[in-house]
Amino acid sequence: MLKTAVLVSGGGSNLQAILDAEKRGEICSARIGLVVSNKEGAYALERARKAQVEALSLVKAPDEKLQDYGLRLLSLLRSRGIELVVLAGFLLILPPNVIEAYPERILNIHPSLIPSFCGKGFYGLKVHEAALQAGVKLTGATVHLVNEIPDGGRILMQKAVEVRPDDTAEGLQLRVMQEAEWILLPKALEIRAKQILEENNA
Ligand code: GRF
Repeated sequence: MLKTAVLVSGGGSNLQAILDAEKRGEICSARIGLVVSNKEGAYALERARKAQVEALSLVKAPDEKLQDYGLRLLSLLRSRGIELVVLAGFLLILPPNVIEAYPERILNIHPSLIPSFCGKGFYGLKVHEAALQAGVKLTGATVHLVNEIPDGGRILMQKAVEVRPDDTAEGLQLRVMQEAEWILLPKALEIRAKQILEENNA
């Protein structure tokens, strides 16, 4: 099993979906061993502690370079023997030193069908507002590997969600989570972790 860290910034409903799937025995190639938040007091940390997972906040100081924050994050991940990383609503762009240390070993969930409504500036409600503004009839979620291009790494899984004529951005955000994100992320984690274990044994 690959020791996995989940990085969060907020409520942690995607983290919860992973923890629940692990409890149900649906994730057997990875084990969540650490949750890190870049925001003090994020509810995601509570969820981790309730599941008996070590939960820490690591906040970027206002004058700290992203690269230096990356070094602190890396040393934390290495001290815990982390082999795989999941970004589950983590709102900081990861610096290159972290991405290079975990090639094809960082997963991210994005609440749209990439390449639509993604990249710099597309986060949270902004993604769903843009989808409504464009008038698309389908949106959804994507799990992809993280590389140096924001939301640009190899796509692992996608799931479509229908946009309703009366949708608000908030309503659409919730449905995309319920119908796509919470299902997709635990599945993609298991699939990618299994692949890595197989590569390691080859
Ligand atoms: C999700 O919509 C995720 O796709 C996005 O941020 C939100 C995080 O929600 N990147 P939560 O903290 O997992 O509840």
